[in-house]
Amino acid sequence: MKDIAAREFSKKILAIQEEERHRISRDLHDEIGQFSVSLGSALNIIEKEISKRNFDSALSIIKDAKTILANTAERFRTLFIDLRPAELGMLGLPSVLRELFSHYTKSHPLNIKFRENLAGVSIKDDMAITLYRVIQEAFNNIVKHAKAKNVKIDLLLKGGEIILTIEDNGIGFDTGAFFKDANIDKLGLRGMRERVDLLNGKFLLESKPKNGTKINVTFPIIEEM
Ligand SMILES: Nc1ncnc2c1ncn2[C@@H]1O[C@H](COP(=O)(O)OP(=O)(O)OP(=O)(O)O)[C@@H](O)[C@H]1O
Ligand SMILES: [Mg+2]
Repeated sequence: MKDIAAREFSKKILAIQEEERHRISRDLHDEIGQFSVSLGSALNIIEKEISKRNFDSALSIIKDAKTILANTAERFRTLFIDLRPAELGMLGLPSVLRELFSHYTKSHPLNIKFRENLAGVSIKDDMAITLYRVIQEAFNNIVKHAKAKNVKIDLLLKGGEIILTIEDNGIGFDTGAFFKDANIDKLGLRGMRERVDLLNGKFLLESKPKNGTKINVTFPIIEEM
């Protein structure tokens, strides 16, 4: 029985990954397409206006084109943040997380406190990716649902375990009711739990209406490289 359930989990995870890739490929395709068309037509108009010696009009379109460029660059940054696990190996989890947090504080009034003690510790790729994805989804939920002001994240190596805690002081919710209701539209928390289960980690979620939300993930072994 357990094997069948485990196989179903893996299949679901693979399907989620495939869906993610599709979405990113589609976003890239659309962004690049939209950007080339907008910039191409701006350049055409600038060319025409300059040949007619309408410099003021050309200058105003150059200004518009610069705005298009800045907006596109911002959207690409968001896309790259989604893809960031590719850089985990190079930069390490704490640095990549600091970037993720600064991305969230730029666009939301959140006070984030991050503590970690992972200097010199190598975390296996799949574990680092899972930790990153859990934190990313926890933050998506915090900005989408929690109405929190403060978020505390601890990522600590302690007694051979790596322990992640994410705590917000937002509105909280009834976790029991959520897990009872088999709403397949809401995949975030279930996906988190499945990713952690797949690597034999422990996943704990505590929340009460009006009392904030706390997520706790523990992995037993850190392999040194
Ligand atoms: N930090 C939080 N604070 C308050 N409520 C939360 C928090 N995290 C989750 N929730 C509640 O739990 C529900 C389930 O979260 P989950 O991430 O599984 O789904 P979702 O965010 O609604 O949709 P999805 O993640 O699939 O886009 C949310 O709809 C929300 O009501
Ligand atoms: Mg969610």
